[in-house]
Amino acid sequence: MAAMVRRRPAPVTTMPVVLVVVVFVGVVVGGASASAGPLKAHYYRHVCPAAEAVVRDIVTARVAADPAALPAKLLRLFFHDCFVRGCDASVLIDTVAGSGAAAAAEKDAAPNGSLGGYDVIDTAKAVLEAVCPGVVSCADIVALAARDAVSYQFGRDLWDVQLGRRDGVVSLASEALANLPAPSDNFTTLESNFAGKGLDVKDLVILSGAHTIGVGHCNLFGARLFNFTGAAAPSADPSLNAAYAAQLRAACGSPSNNATAVPMDPGSPARFDAHYFVNLKLGRGLFASDAALLADRRAAALVHGLTDQDYFLREFKNAVRKMGRVGVLTGDQGEIRKNCRAINGK
Ligand code: HEM
Repeated sequence: MAAMVRRRPAPVTTMPVVLVVVVFVGVVVGGASASAGPLKAHYYRHVCPAAEAVVRDIVTARVAADPAALPAKLLRLFFHDCFVRGCDASVLIDTVAGSGAAAAAEKDAAPNGSLGGYDVIDTAKAVLEAVCPGVVSCADIVALAARDAVSYQFGRDLWDVQLGRRDGVVSLASEALANLPAPSDNFTTLESNFAGKGLDVKDLVILSGAHTIGVGHCNLFGARLFNFTGAAAPSADPSLNAAYAAQLRAACGSPSNNATAVPMDPGSPARFDAHYFVNLKLGRGLFASDAALLADRRAAALVHGLTDQDYFLREFKNAVRKMGRVGVLTGDQGEIRKNCRAINGK
């Protein structure tokens, strides 16, 4: 305290510099808005009390009709939204016809080609626009839908969703390509990709546990199965369990097969459980990016602990909430889209 009182004032010559830096940081971090703020639980309680229930009812009905595939689609949609320009529903925007390749929207980037669940978001949005027009963001609907879809098999919410995201007004395929991790990525690349979103190695490992549900197409891991080392076929990635590699070769037939998809967590493909980490330890991680989690000492130690179901669910809850805060627009930033597929007025 005494030190604070006696501290000498900064020399006048440095003050403008400090001011400029503060203003600059404010603009970059806050996106030039003075009224940005944190996300909040039950953000719509007063302005659209039905919001969370509407999304839940629609998602629950749709998942009940497609419990094996839809939760994976909606969870991946949320991830791909958050990793490109933050969780701002930019992934939902359609490319404007005739706008040229440079203006192609995120959803038309190759890694987004197999995304799905857009129609579920559209249905929820249409109902919400009828009930409370212009209030509930598409970005929040995506966040809620992912939680509700994955939680369906548990009959309770696996994590709580903070709300108040606003919708972005830019969507570029080139940014999806640059920001989404690739299944061929090694550990260093994955770590720096996640770090760029404010997510650490622990988040990377835990969030990769999302691969406990869903499928992957053969062409995205085919290079690990056939002629991997350049020796006589069928040489596989040595980090792959040999029996598993043989099964995958039989299922895929060729390394470039983009018509066949296999479960990412064989043995428990639709359960949201810790079995992904059990498989990973046995050399049954489907993508090079899954196997890469064993290539780093810190990540591998986490993988071992995450084979415990309760621990996995507890940690996933924290990590997915953190992912849901990446780069969000709040306050008067962005807009509330009327139609999740188009920027207002376009
Ligand atoms: C760590 C970096 C990651 C990479 C490189 C990666 C890559 C992939 C790839 C290539 C697919 C298969 C796509 C296809 O064949 O159609 C996939 C599927 C999936 N990913 Fe990831 N992913 C990563 C992290 C995540 C995260 C953080 C989540 C969510 C929190 C996630 C959720 C999913 C889900 C649920 C599927 C299955 C989708 C479906 O069955 O439709 N992934 N991922």
